[in-house]
Formats: sequence, C-alpha cells, structure tokens
Amino acid sequence: MDLKERHQQAIAGVVPLETPLEFDRGEGSYLIDRSGRRYLDLMTGIAVNVLGYGHPAILEALQKQAQKYLHLYNGLGYQDIVVEFAEAIQAITEPGYPVYFGNSGTEAVEAALKLARAATGRAGIIAFRGAFHGRTYGSLSLTASNAKYRSAYEPLVPMVYHVDYPAPTRLGLTSEAALAHTQQQLMTLFADEIDPSKVAVIVVEPVQGEGGYVIPPAGFLPWLSELCQKNGILLAVDEVQSGMGRTGRWFAYQHANIHPDIVILGKALGGGLPISAMAARKDLMARWAPGTHGTTFGGNPAAAATGLAALKVMHQEHLVERARDLGAFALDALKPLQDLPGVVDVRGLGLMVAVEFEAERGESMVTAVMEEGLRRSMIVHPAGLRHEVIRLMPPLNIDQAVFEAALKELVDIIRGVVGGTH
Ligand SMILES: Cc1ncc(COP(=O)(O)O)c(C=O)c1O
Repeated sequence: MDLKERHQQAIAGVVPLETPLEFDRGEGSYLIDRSGRRYLDLMTGIAVNVLGYGHPAILEALQKQAQKYLHLYNGLGYQDIVVEFAEAIQAITEPGYPVYFGNSGTEAVEAALKLARAATGRAGIIAFRGAFHGRTYGSLSLTASNAKYRSAYEPLVPMVYHVDYPAPTRLGLTSEAALAHTQQQLMTLFADEIDPSKVAVIVVEPVQGEGGYVIPPAGFLPWLSELCQKNGILLAVDEVQSGMGRTGRWFAYQHANIHPDIVILGKALGGGLPISAMAARKDLMARWAPGTHGTTFGGNPAAAATGLAALKVMHQEHLVERARDLGAFALDALKPLQDLPGVVDVRGLGLMVAVEFEAERGESMVTAVMEEGLRRSMIVHPAGLRHEVIRLMPPLNIDQAVFEAALKELVDIIRGVVGGTH
C-alpha cells in the first residue's frame, strides 16, 4: 500500500487533505516532499511556524529541556522555564496579567469563557459572525464562520449571542457604515434579547482569521472596549492567529491602543510545539477558585522552552517590525490585483495578507490559485466564509528576496486564474 492508501485506512477522514503532497521535512521557509521537491510554505502550519523549520535556537532549546524532562504537570511544583515563559508573555501583552496555559487555541478560549463566567457571575457571552474560535463545545458555540462546523453537534452552549463583525466587503458597506451597523446590532441585542448586566464577556478577533483576514474599521475596538467598561462586561481578544508579532505589533489589539481584560494566545506561541495561553486581569484571576479548572499537558515545559526561544529570536532580530515592513511591501505588490474583474479586495495587516475574490466564483478561483501555486512549488491557504479568500502567513523571518519572488509569482497566478488561462 502506498502512503495515500495507508493514510486512508489509518487516519480519520473528518480532516480532509488540502494537497496530495507527501512530506519528508522542513528547512527554513521550505517544506520538502519525499521526492526531494521543495515547496515555499506560505501557510506555516496555519500561522504556527513563526521562524520556519529547523531554527537552531528552537532546536537547541528543545534539546536542552528534553535532557532535563519533557513533561511535568504544571500543578506539581515550581518550574523555572514555565515561569520565565509566562513572564515573557506578560512583558508583551499586559503587564501583571497572570497567565493560564493550555495546549491549543480552543482550550485557551474555553479557559477564557470559564474565567469570565466564574469571575463575573454572569452567563451571557457575545461573539461575532464570521468568527472562528475553535471546535470544542464552548469555543464552537462562538465560532460562526461556517454552519458545517456547528450543525452536526447541536445543541451548543446556551446564552451565546452573535452580531455581525464590521466586515466591509462581507456586508457590502463602507468602513464607516459597517461600524455603524455592528454598533446598531449590539444595541438592538441589548434592548431586545439580553440586558448588558447579564453579559459576562464579549470575545473578538482583532483581525478575523478564518473569516478572511478581515481588518475592522479603526474605531471598532476602542468603541467595543468602552462599551464593555461601561457595562461591566469583560473584553476578551482572541489573538490565536493574529498574535505573536504577525501583524506588525506583538498583538493586533495593540494597533487600537486598548487594554482588554483577557488575551487569548495559541498557534505561534510555542514556536512550533503545541501550547496556548490565556492572560487576564489579576483581580479576575483572583476570583477563579483554585482547583476549578486545569489540564494535564497545559504549559508543557518543552513547548514553553521552544516558545521562549522563538520569542527571544523575535526580540533580537526585530521580527515584529520586519512583519510590519514586509507586510507593507506585500500589500504594494498585490494591490494592482484589486483592479482585476473577480477580485474584490486586497488587504493586510503586517504579514496577515489576503486577496478576496467575488463570492460567486470565489471558491473555484481560490482552488485554482492553490493548485497552480503547487505546480509552481508554493503552498498557500484559503480563508473566508465560502473559501473566497487566499491568505498568506509566511514565517516572519522569510528571506526578503524569496518573498518578493513569491509575490510576483502569485500576482501572475492570480492574473492567469482571473483571465482564465490557469
Ligand atoms: C482566532 C482563532 N482562535 C482559535 C483557534 C483554535 O485554535 P486550535 O485549532 O489550536 O484549537 C483558531 C484556529 O484556527 C483561530 O484562528
């Protein structure tokens, strides 16, 4: 049996494959298949491999920790590596916010929901349409980017409400009108369905990830933050995809100069190993009774070591600023696509870069771009509610000349797809 057949026999089909590639290893920004062919990886394990593959600092940190021990339950005793990692997270999020560690993005979202209900004594939760927060029951109850994630599993967690995210192209509105629309929806929700005094938390992606790299109007997060403060509602920002320097600030919420009550982290946090975190205001954490939540693997010391190593490299090599600059360059390179028929929008914040196609033919165009990308040895990933968006999330240390060449190639591919030659 070849690998494809063995996979089909051995692995659950619920996770469909995006490509027919058979991987052997990674090197820097490249993935190499079993025949030795090299592919430029512009999706980095869905925004995880922030320094690409095989970074020596990450490997060294992993080996050093592996020689001590690979795992200890965080509730067993004091561990320097875990504390140092939490301190490093505090230094780039909100100073003084204690950190709770999990393994995956969804677990960090679950932790945020539990903390919010426990600390406020309120049950209501508000999220946004187009959001993706994960696939376990709590986070799934917030996820609203595609009915297929939810339908087979209902009923979900009660007292979760959704309003439209201020997504101009999705709503077909200008930026100002999209913001006014969302504001109106929240006011209507408070008037008609749930009094704000019953709402524990509003959970928001500062840039919607799976939803299509949607950047909200500049006034959105400051307005939301003020609304929450006025009503005693906690504001939780889900930075699982947009965090760790990718947008040109450590966290996307920092572009808006707000101070959320809860910050949710995952994906790139571990430099390639699975670890997630939820940092929250000290007084909230103090109201979270010891023993009422926890996990076996959360805060795994090997993942803390690799995450810390990745963070140090990002500091030393100024990769956050680099993400900002490379992102601006990418936008310039891709902007001319916006004039093509079939392309709705080219947008980005740092190295979260997206090209959106018209809704009707979007999915087939995106598939064609991905297939032609593969033929040209380049891996790109879809996004958007109907897979009408191509998203780029390269490693933050990608070689500039390589990235420039890839962008040129992508422009050529998209012109071909739109013009019907690919
Ligand atoms: C914004 C956001 N939150 C949460 C998650 C869930 O993370 P995980 O897949 O690690 O559970 C994702 C995953 O794509 C995400 O993009």
